[in-house]
Amino acid sequence: MAYAHKDLLGMAHLTAEEITGILDLAEGFADVSRREVKKVPALRGKTVVNLFFEPSTRTRVSFEIAQKRLSADAVNFTSSSSSTTKGETLLDTVKNIEAMNPSVLVIRHSASGAPHFVAARTKASVVNAGDGRHEHPTQALLDLFTIRSRLGRIAGLNVSIIGDVANSRVARSDIHALSKLGAKVKICGPATMIPPNPEALGVKVAGRIEEALDGADVVIALRIQKERQDGGNFPSNREYARFFGINPKNLELTGKNAIVMHPGPINRGVELSSDVADGPRSVILDQVEAGVTVRMAVVYMLAGGGAE
Ligand code: CP
Repeated sequence: MAYAHKDLLGMAHLTAEEITGILDLAEGFADVSRREVKKVPALRGKTVVNLFFEPSTRTRVSFEIAQKRLSADAVNFTSSSSSTTKGETLLDTVKNIEAMNPSVLVIRHSASGAPHFVAARTKASVVNAGDGRHEHPTQALLDLFTIRSRLGRIAGLNVSIIGDVANSRVARSDIHALSKLGAKVKICGPATMIPPNPEALGVKVAGRIEEALDGADVVIALRIQKERQDGGNFPSNREYARFFGINPKNLELTGKNAIVMHPGPINRGVELSSDVADGPRSVILDQVEAGVTVRMAVVYMLAGGGAE
């Protein structure tokens, strides 16, 4: 497997071969999480620090579980209980943690580019666990892993991404990764939530949800990113659900084997009705399980676990 980078900062600059290589490596780790003893000695003696400057459930917990399953020493840092509350800068924080010799830093931050800033100033490998509206590369990897596991391929699939595309780092990483691997991507959402230049991303825009769902193999509903909006992007949750929510009726327009995904957390009854979120086409909890598998592969690869 060829991966010619110190860090994993996004999907935009990876090749299709590099993305496929990480997914293939992850296949080898899937079995570890299903064994009675869920641990391998691959990263014994390595330290990984998880620096979360924004809230997280899935990403933070799955990174920690992945690191522990690889026998790495996993250390968690949350900004609210750290010296950042006393005014310490991001760079000073990172330099102090670097002095303790970690192999990998996993960083989530509200500022787009924060992990890139850190990566350029530390010898440790850096994984972007979500930066502002920019990218969330391990979410894209786990989404691709889930699609490949369920549908057997990525190339040629019709993938529709519905909702708050403009503010979504998940959408941006998914679009880059899916397009590189040959999927056809459509986006759909309120006009205020469509990025200004969608052609530059290589996607088509569907004006109505029916057009987006028609013949789709994969439907990815996005969370409305209230924390990144200035309000007033749509009239009400009820209107949103009516025009852009996925329900059992409009889901009938998709292909017969179509799967429904959501990165979480879900606004139930808004982005997805509960009977879709918990229904037979939903692979949302498969995505969560894949998160551990894919993050094991990423941390293993960057911590010097070797290419095999
Ligand atoms: N998908 C995702 O990033 O979820 P969390 O914010 O809970 O980590």
